[in-house]
Amino acid sequence: MSETKTITIFDTTLRDGEQSPGASMNMEEKLRIAHQLEKLNVDVIEAGFPIASEGDFEAVRKVAQVIRGPQIGGLCRANDMDIDRAWEALKYAGERGRIHTFIATSDIHMQYKLKMSEDQVVETAVNAVRRAAGYTPNVEFSAEDAVRTRLPFLARVIKEVIDAGATTVNIPDTVGYTIPSEYFNIIRYLKDNVPNIERASISVHCHNDLGLAVANSLAAVQAGAAQVECTINGIGERAGNCSLEEVVMALRTRHDILPFSTNVHTEHIYAASKLLSTITGIVVQPNKAIVGANAFAHEAGIHQHGVMMEKSTYEIMTPESIGLTQNKLVLGKHSGRHAFVQRLNELGYELTKEDIERAFLRFKSLADQKKEIFDEDLDAIVADEIIRVPETFKLLQMNVSSGSFAAPTATVEMEVDGKRKKTAIMGDGPVDATFKAIKKLTRSKARLLHFSVGAITGGTDALGECTVRLEEGGREVLGQGAHSDIIVASAKAYINALNKAASVAKRTTVHL
Ligand code: KIV
Ligand code: ZN
Repeated sequence: MSETKTITIFDTTLRDGEQSPGASMNMEEKLRIAHQLEKLNVDVIEAGFPIASEGDFEAVRKVAQVIRGPQIGGLCRANDMDIDRAWEALKYAGERGRIHTFIATSDIHMQYKLKMSEDQVVETAVNAVRRAAGYTPNVEFSAEDAVRTRLPFLARVIKEVIDAGATTVNIPDTVGYTIPSEYFNIIRYLKDNVPNIERASISVHCHNDLGLAVANSLAAVQAGAAQVECTINGIGERAGNCSLEEVVMALRTRHDILPFSTNVHTEHIYAASKLLSTITGIVVQPNKAIVGANAFAHEAGIHQHGVMMEKSTYEIMTPESIGLTQNKLVLGKHSGRHAFVQRLNELGYELTKEDIERAFLRFKSLADQKKEIFDEDLDAIVADEIIRVPETFKLLQMNVSSGSFAAPTATVEMEVDGKRKKTAIMGDGPVDATFKAIKKLTRSKARLLHFSVGAITGGTDALGECTVRLEEGGREVLGQGAHSDIIVASAKAYINALNKAASVAKRTTVHL
């Protein structure tokens, strides 16, 4: 019998994932994600880039303090200041704290970005790893843009950093350029040409610019990589990173030809995906593998018939294996608090007593308007009532008149920095009038980039869910709002985006 090797799952949703446009998260949101990752039982949570801003530092420190189980990583460039700052935040995780330092090794990056020679890059990398190893034996080194690095030089850098104390060596495809056979050969080359390679674990980190991040990661695992870096829903810089749910479920489903396992508790995958899209407002495409709305839907009659006779005819994995239950009617007007809390727990939400009270009140008022409450309605309630940023701007009340002969007019009353303000304004449509009124009251200069409306469940009494993407001061933010009146939902989404912009405004960014 062949032996099964356990692959380390390194989740970077809170670091590389947060680099997705519009995916900035505040501390509370990061902690929620970190708790869900703990439930998923990933091996490493990369919690942020501590030197990037006060907010990043605090988030990494807090995650290191409260999360038990997974190792906690913090990214830093290859310099003393970054490394010292990273350990300052990570030390609370004790021996589970991992310093992750990186420098680019490709000719293109060394020449144009770093303006450094090969020798200088090696020296900088070695010094950084030595400094990190002075704090902890748990040191990861990444050769940024490894895939476009000359292989003999890559092997030299990797050998030197292992000698300096790196225990994990990461070979990123920073620009999503490689293909599976090439990446397989790079990992094999390092195994054959780095004399001390057995003293470290090989990690892979793939971006999805050509849609190959998962395939490349699997090829690397087959070539001997021991760690895969990935994110929930595949979010991340540009086209994103290797998707955690896809790589984990591929390893699980094709165990027959991929003799590898992971420690991930896959039944928490769906809740993790939902939580992340609720928090960031980045919607999962319906046909996305594993967690998309259609991933387990059988539309063609012949398929439905087959699945009814025997599920395995068209299902290669069960919805239950990722924690997906049927979109069943869960609760109604007469449901009590106990059933409500139990269902929230099953969906992956663990709320404080105070949050439960707020969510339950909202649930009761929704149940008065709409007979049937589905899981999606509960997700929207939690998103709208609980998971929200500090409210610099608050919607108090609004009224909109529109129709086929009168000019649409919105009257909006808000609390802005603690003061009540009201205005009435006309627009090209009810949503336009509402947004104009909000902009006037908040004196916002935000530019609307995207606006979408959807019904969360079926029926004319369904909750409407709106997503708004705004650009303010060069930063993109997403806002979401849900309400049975779609104009109110639009206003809430717009205000949610403005609140996010206000809460991240003070953060500074360090570019990689
Ligand atoms: O894509 C990349 O190269 C990275 C490194 C910093 C690991 O994110
Ligand atoms: Zn990356």
